[in-house]
Amino acid sequence: MADTNVAPGLEGVAATHSSISHIDGAAGLLSYRGYAIDDLVAHSSFEEVALLLLDGALPDDADLKAFDEGLRSHRQVKYNVREIMKFMPVTGHPMDMLHCAVASLGMFYPQQELSDAERENTPHLDAMAMRIIARMPTIVAMWEQMRFGNDPIVPRTDLNHAANFLYMISGKEPNPALAKILDTCLILHAEHTINASTFAVLVTGSTLTNPYHVIGSAIGTLAGPLHGGANQKVVEMLEEIGSVAKVGAYLDAKMANKEKIWGFGHRVYKTRDPRAAILKEMMEKLASNGHLRHSQLFEIAIEVEKQATDRLGPKGIHANVDFYSGVLYHEMGIKADLFTPIFAMARSAGWLAHWREQLADNRIFRPTQVYNGASPRAYVALDKRN
Ligand code: ACO
Repeated sequence: MADTNVAPGLEGVAATHSSISHIDGAAGLLSYRGYAIDDLVAHSSFEEVALLLLDGALPDDADLKAFDEGLRSHRQVKYNVREIMKFMPVTGHPMDMLHCAVASLGMFYPQQELSDAERENTPHLDAMAMRIIARMPTIVAMWEQMRFGNDPIVPRTDLNHAANFLYMISGKEPNPALAKILDTCLILHAEHTINASTFAVLVTGSTLTNPYHVIGSAIGTLAGPLHGGANQKVVEMLEEIGSVAKVGAYLDAKMANKEKIWGFGHRVYKTRDPRAAILKEMMEKLASNGHLRHSQLFEIAIEVEKQATDRLGPKGIHANVDFYSGVLYHEMGIKADLFTPIFAMARSAGWLAHWREQLADNRIFRPTQVYNGASPRAYVALDKRN
């Protein structure tokens, strides 16, 4: 029998007030601070969107320049972080590395707990947030070099956030068209209301621990395949399918076994995720201009979306952002296990915006439970238990 006192997965439970982003799940609309995601993708940059999320308003020229310069000048991480990474197994997943490396930053940039004065010191919180956003791409890119036995590539200050990341993972001058695609992906992934990882931010942040622990919690939460880890799973699924002709049989078998189709479904969207639509359109445009590989995987993805929507659409299950972001990164030549770390780099802006918003009116999270364990019983000594 359903327990009316418990909401599994907290579905429909409002855990906080927030002015950062809004989803209209029925219409398939997403806005950040009131600005439609389509307008931000068309006119903005990741740097501007990050500042919009943190501050609540589109910045003027001077503020954007100062924030951008801050990001560029804080890209390097202390040598000690690299020393820690040297001892991590090269076969480990980059999300595990990122979780560990970001959590360790609190030891190298000490910030143990937030005093009342610090919580009210907005410039201090701004500076901490900006530095985390600046350093996450460097950490991901350092690992990408180190795990193949190379020295990390020193970040450049003359490239924007997206272009510098592509430079650090490849060592090559980035193609401006690919840097623009990544910038768009970073905007689309920067924020998405109270999803699982952002809720982890709220729970961890509510204890007033340092922001590195807060972002570490969020990274660990994002890593799971039901959340950010789905983008890597999508590409693995498309590779497993192998050809357009096999799509129908694959989907039928999955559904007969009641298995999930990766990159489909969403707790809030009951129609297509607007971010998936933007990514698909962008991929088609870029592929026809010759900027992307346009591999067989792309063709398989189009067919999976069509056939899976035929089967699952009537239940309100459609492609989500992870369906096309994985394919897009694959077409850009980025390795599959970097997809979720790139998601985390982008989402750091939204996570930190929520962290700051909550600090202004904090109360520790301490929900309750409905106990369904044993009634009180007598302790049995070890030698009397069998
Ligand atoms: N494939 C097939 N069936 C699905 C899928 C899917 N991808 N998603 C949901 N369903 C079905 C479930 O089997 C269930 O069916 P039932 O009612 O017959 O038992 C019903 O839809 C409800 O599914 P839940 O898992 O209960 O929905 P919930 O809101 O809890 O979960 C979630 C949402 C986790 C995103 C789910 O749709 C899923 O697992 N999708 C695949 C993983 C994925 O793509 N995750 C990325 C989400 S976007 C993001 O985090 C950035």
